[in-house]
Amino acid sequence: MTRTCLSIVLAAGEGTRMRSSRPKVLHAIGQRTLVSHVLAAVRAVSGSAAVVVGPGQDAVVGEVTAVLPQAQIFVQSERRGTAHAVLAASAAIAQGPDDLLIVFADTPLIRSETLSRMRESLADGAAVVVLGFRPVDPTGYGRLVTENGRLLTIREEKDASAEERKITFCNGGLMALRGDIALALLEAITDHNAKHEFYLTDVVALARAHGLDAVALEIEEDEVRGVNTQGQLAEAEAVLQRRLRAAALDAGVTMVAPETVHLAADTKLGRDVVIEPYVVFGPGVVVEDGALIRSFSHLERAHVGKGSSVGPFARLRPGAKLGEDVRVGNFVEVKEATLEAGVRANHLSYIGDARVGAGANIGAGTITCNYDGAQKHRTDIGKEAFVGSNSALVAPVAIGDGAYIGSGSVITRDVPAEALAVGRARQVVKDGWAKRLREMKGSSKKLSE
Ligand code: UD1
Ligand code: CA
Repeated sequence: MTRTCLSIVLAAGEGTRMRSSRPKVLHAIGQRTLVSHVLAAVRAVSGSAAVVVGPGQDAVVGEVTAVLPQAQIFVQSERRGTAHAVLAASAAIAQGPDDLLIVFADTPLIRSETLSRMRESLADGAAVVVLGFRPVDPTGYGRLVTENGRLLTIREEKDASAEERKITFCNGGLMALRGDIALALLEAITDHNAKHEFYLTDVVALARAHGLDAVALEIEEDEVRGVNTQGQLAEAEAVLQRRLRAAALDAGVTMVAPETVHLAADTKLGRDVVIEPYVVFGPGVVVEDGALIRSFSHLERAHVGKGSSVGPFARLRPGAKLGEDVRVGNFVEVKEATLEAGVRANHLSYIGDARVGAGANIGAGTITCNYDGAQKHRTDIGKEAFVGSNSALVAPVAIGDGAYIGSGSVITRDVPAEALAVGRARQVVKDGWAKRLREMKGSSKKLSE
């Protein structure tokens, strides 16, 4: 029989130390908000989720419902401690899940594997499971008081004796509780402590007093790294980037300087993809097998087909779709455009709101003029078309299959398939003109031969 599980996500934090107008848990690492990292971990291990927010946190509720529509939302009207926050969701707990997981929305690096381990511990008979870690500096953390390896109680720093403060084994904050006794234990917690708060950590001693078992699972500090400041946000980002890069390398991606590559949590990289140093992935990027992403390129909501090559110094903006063996070279920007198989756009171009047919060649300096100051218009370029360098394609415009556009053209009307279009001033050559000009100005300079 599989056990049911409810996760409670505490998100009622104020986050004033971020010095930001954005709610703390809506800051992002790996291009994904802190709360959605936690929701992703939770979703992987539990059937239902309840999120506890503070009053007026509509933006947080909006994000939660966008990421996990089935999440129940509860409001903690006053901030009176972690146990008090959990009890805001008592209606959900009362539905009687076998396991109860309590996680913090500002602790985004928790792994779903660790949450699974906590549940396994409950299944093995523990009533309370906490996460223990050994920080370099334990200041501020609750201390895990143990005896012969058994967890007796958790002492919050402000309530700890000098002796207890010497303990280096600290509480990570997150907790798992046996669902059938959770409410009774939580309701027995008082605020008789230094902070006059209802401490969730008190459930350990209460469980012990009832002869129940409490255990601490030891984990890496990184997993329970909380975010309260911009500095801690940057540290959490660094941890996440290391994880994402390691996963990419494990999956067969080649990166000669992985520490310079910035990935998003949802970046998808195929096998034999090569990423040169200094590449930035925004959200929503898929790179298929064997593609090469060269240095200083920036990609966002873009798809790179098999064997394609991007950059150096290329920008793929949202809606850029490159088919197989496409080449997008230096200083080329692609937005909301499909480049079909074998297209070449090797230098200095802007391709926006367009389709470029298979095998077409886009010369250096080609610009799709997609915006007339009020509206965006589309450019359609047929397969095997050749667009000469420095052409401006004024949309809406269509260039037929195999058509040829002379360099420096401004194309304002459709070009039929296989036709030549030249839209530029005819060249004028005046023999001896430059020499006469110099003589007129009395210049003694002679043209070097
Ligand atoms: C908590 C633990 C401490 C542990 C530390 C790890 C308690 C009493 N202490 O302390 O043992 O070492 O985490 O980081 O649990 N929250 C609410 N409503 C409240 C209070 C808190 O939603 O009324 C949320 C916060 O937004 C945060 C989480 O609960 O996401 C933890 O609260 P916080 O005040 O940061 O707890 P700590 O003092 O750090
Ligand atoms: Ca904290």
